[in-house]
Amino acid sequence: MANLEHLISESLSDFNACADMPALENAKAKYLGKTGALTEALKGLGKLSNEERPAAGAAINVVKQAVEAALNARREAILNAEQAKQLAAESLDVTLPARAQSTGGLHPVTLTLQRIEQLFHSIGFDVATGPEIETDFYNFTALNIPENHPARAMHDTFYVDENNVLRTHTSPVQIHYMENKEPPLKIIAPGRVYRVDSDATHSPMFHQVEGLWVDENISFANLKGVVQDFLQKFFERDDLTVRFRPSFFPFTEPSAEMDMSWNGGWLEIGGCGMVHPEVFKHVNIDSEKYRGFAFGLGVERLAMLRYGVNDLRHFFNNDLRFLSQFK
Ligand code: PHE
Repeated sequence: MANLEHLISESLSDFNACADMPALENAKAKYLGKTGALTEALKGLGKLSNEERPAAGAAINVVKQAVEAALNARREAILNAEQAKQLAAESLDVTLPARAQSTGGLHPVTLTLQRIEQLFHSIGFDVATGPEIETDFYNFTALNIPENHPARAMHDTFYVDENNVLRTHTSPVQIHYMENKEPPLKIIAPGRVYRVDSDATHSPMFHQVEGLWVDENISFANLKGVVQDFLQKFFERDDLTVRFRPSFFPFTEPSAEMDMSWNGGWLEIGGCGMVHPEVFKHVNIDSEKYRGFAFGLGVERLAMLRYGVNDLRHFFNNDLRFLSQFK
């Protein structure tokens, strides 16, 4: 029996040396496997006499139970360690602050257009739109710019094909709108326009806002009042004034360039005039009865002044460092 006792301490150190379950199963075979030391000892009982057998059997069982207990303890320790390792690897710190969601923002030109629409809406102007690809007729002819007229050279036009152009201004929306409606008419027409031009203050695509008010007694004074009132509200400056310089547009008569007071000087912000009788003729409006004013404002110009942007190209480079400032 003495040579079985030592199996207890031997198995204990064998088991404790096992780092994982496969190793432990291997070590177990040496004691409890088919040819393990304890299995062999039990087989040997048959050779003992009837008198010796009970005591020997009991002694073997004591050792066997001790070895099994050591095995189970180690097995549990290994499983616990494996679980602890897995939990540590998958651990989640629920006290960490949540990641902030980053939201987008509207483009400064969009913000400017919204502001323009809102201000004109508040004084009774509807918003009208038209196509960006126009026929020669809408972009030029109906606006009293006949073919081969030198005024066409004022517009550096992108031609889509012989008869279609990318609109060079928002004025063709006037024609679309007046074709289908009877005065009184009171609209703005914001949108993209295109010209062959590109530098710090010109982009091949930019935005204009057209204004048109047609009624029986519309005069230049109404034009000045509407534009000045709009600009004062847009820039939040009550002291802002507008001046007109004589100019020429084929679709207005008389015509003028509009300047507004800015930092002690004057800045050009668009063109305007009284709707030309030839234009009314194209859309069957009686120019003896009705008069109207029209104007065209540069939207990027207004946005640059309002936000203090010094290069027009910032609006179209889509650099997030620039755009995110308008969130
Ligand atoms: N369409 C003109 C331009 O783009 C501006 C304008 C609009 C002038 C309406 C007069 C009346 O230059």
